[in-house]
Amino acid sequence: MAAAGDEKLYLLVACSLLLLAVGCQASPLQIGFYHDRCPQAEAIVKGVMMDAISQNPGNGAAMIRMLFHDCFVEGCDASVLLDPTPFSPTPEKLSAPNNPSLRGFELIDAIKDALEAACPGVVSCADIIAFSARDASCILSAGKDVVTPNDLDRQYYKNVLSHTVLFTSDAALLTSEETAKMVVDNANIPGWWEDRFEKAMVKMAGIEVKTGDEGQIRKNCRAINYY
Ligand code: HEM
Repeated sequence: MAAAGDEKLYLLVACSLLLLAVGCQASPLQIGFYHDRCPQAEAIVKGVMMDAISQNPGNGAAMIRMLFHDCFVEGCDASVLLDPTPFSPTPEKLSAPNNPSLRGFELIDAIKDALEAACPGVVSCADIIAFSARDASCILSAGKDVVTPNDLDRQYYKNVLSHTVLFTSDAALLTSEETAKMVVDNANIPGWWEDRFEKAMVKMAGIEVKTGDEGQIRKNCRAINYY
């Protein structure tokens, strides 16, 4: 058994903001927190995400939503991943917005396992969510010229304009001048929506990010470390 000193909490610097900010192409390793600690971290996440999305594009959607659901409740701290325990029988995971529709927990486990095998105790679960959501956004929006249901693009806004949307709330976007203009711009100006989506995701991934000694690197994303 390792000495207690070896098992003390590691510093957590969740650098999701920086990592997401650099976009799809640039290597975040130039400015990334894991450059020295785990240089292969991002490649590992991307590899698992590419495989997962090629098997089922819904895995990409799952990670984008996972980031939203984690960050909007007490910040981006991977709390949404925690399983119930006798001390915390109803964690976020079991709340109505998450259970049973939030998916992708096994994918996070697979990424965490791969990262722990390469660099034990280094990459935080919050950063895993952020990396995987970024990779999903990039993979799903990469250079498609045919409209498919699995692409991340501005097609939704074109559908609103052509009145081919499902919900009353979708159609209602055209009922106020302010939102109608947003719909028109998003639908018609190439790159307009994509730019805003990217900025919004970056902003979201920075909500109450923990720094310094505020958190811990979990061994398993489903449970906090007790030691
Ligand atoms: C308060 C605002 C929001 C509400 C009320 C909402 C609600 C929902 C609902 C009801 C679903 C369907 C869940 C099911 O399968 O039964 C869903 C799916 C989804 N939402 Fe949201 N959502 C919101 C904001 C967002 C945001 C900001 C994002 C992106 C950052 C997002 C991304 C997604 C994605 C990607 C899915 C599909 C997930 C999958 O296929 O596994 N949502 N949302």
